[in-house]
Amino acid sequence: MLQLHLTDFSLEHFMQHYWQQRPVVIRQGLRHFKDLISPEDLAGLALEEEVDSRLVYKKRGKWQAENGPFTSYDHLGRKGWSLIVQAVNHWSPEVAALVPPFAFIPKWRFDDVMVSYSTPGGGVGPHIDLYDVFICQGSGRRQWRVGDKGEHRQFAAHAALLHVDPFEPIIDTELLPGDILYIPPGFPHDGVSLETSLSYSVGFRGKSACAMLSGLADHVIDKDLGTTLFSDPRRPIHTHQGHINAQDFQMIRAQLQSLLDDDTLVADFAGSFLSKTKCQLDLQPLEEPMTDANVVALLERQRLVRTGGLRCFYLDQTVNKGVCFVDGERHAFGAATKTAVKALCDHDTLTPKLLRSGLKAPAFVAALTQWVNAGYWYFEV
Ligand code: SIN
Ligand code: CO
Repeated sequence: MLQLHLTDFSLEHFMQHYWQQRPVVIRQGLRHFKDLISPEDLAGLALEEEVDSRLVYKKRGKWQAENGPFTSYDHLGRKGWSLIVQAVNHWSPEVAALVPPFAFIPKWRFDDVMVSYSTPGGGVGPHIDLYDVFICQGSGRRQWRVGDKGEHRQFAAHAALLHVDPFEPIIDTELLPGDILYIPPGFPHDGVSLETSLSYSVGFRGKSACAMLSGLADHVIDKDLGTTLFSDPRRPIHTHQGHINAQDFQMIRAQLQSLLDDDTLVADFAGSFLSKTKCQLDLQPLEEPMTDANVVALLERQRLVRTGGLRCFYLDQTVNKGVCFVDGERHAFGAATKTAVKALCDHDTLTPKLLRSGLKAPAFVAALTQWVNAGYWYFEV
């Protein structure tokens, strides 16, 4: 099992002083690290239509970026290019094993593991990301420069490549296999491969209020909520027709606020919204669907594993009713299933012991069977 190994500071210190604040190199954060995927298997994934991949290179000194799928790399030569594949944890259980070492940050903040294969001199160029990332170095060495947060001019080096002006590095270092570079949002950085290398970026997402409100609007429309019209009985006589006065403004705000003050509504929205995956899951429905009894019996013998990238959450506001959110869908299994619902969301691998309270509830067992049949969870062979 992969484990994060800190020598220079504690995890508490990291969260207090670095997370979302400052970049830092964690030397040998993954000791004895061996690649989790081969370049050939990565190229195999980049062949697939449903996998998000990119090639970045320079042609006659000009940056180029192409979106996959890719069938050939012959036009690229041996140097100066990178293949970047998004959400590899969805497709490779071995790469998904890089997620648990970062479980000290909740899963709802997690995004995906991106894998980058670079030839010598390859990289995506100097840029700024809007998310936190732990760049874990696999085989090969890579030189990383990270600049300070601040005013940095960004420009399109290519239609699909947003770059940043040259910056003074506050970190300028070579990463070796097992080293980790943590970069919070807003810090310009540039990684150039010194030799053929693989790196694994464990990325975390942050949502803007704009994205959350837009999602909330979709949620209330879908569920037909918040439909009560503005109402103003016993309104005082208005004197300036064109004026939306302070009292009216308060009423408008209160109407909107009433949605945000509804804990269940916001919890249901947050659970559904945050449990949706951005990239496709590798769902492999069973050719011969199982019955509830099959699933319960098999669970006694084999571990039930969550497919890579599947997002499952519960919230304090509703977990007492056995509510959880799986891949954007709300499920309610009743108060008695609370511990099973929590275990389902907290653990990547499930056992009968963890699910005991749920296995006594037919609705929970039926949902589990449906999930197994659809490929959301699979029995480890
Ligand atoms: C890369 O791995 O090539 C790019 C990673 C990053 O800078 O975010
Ligand atoms: Co970056």
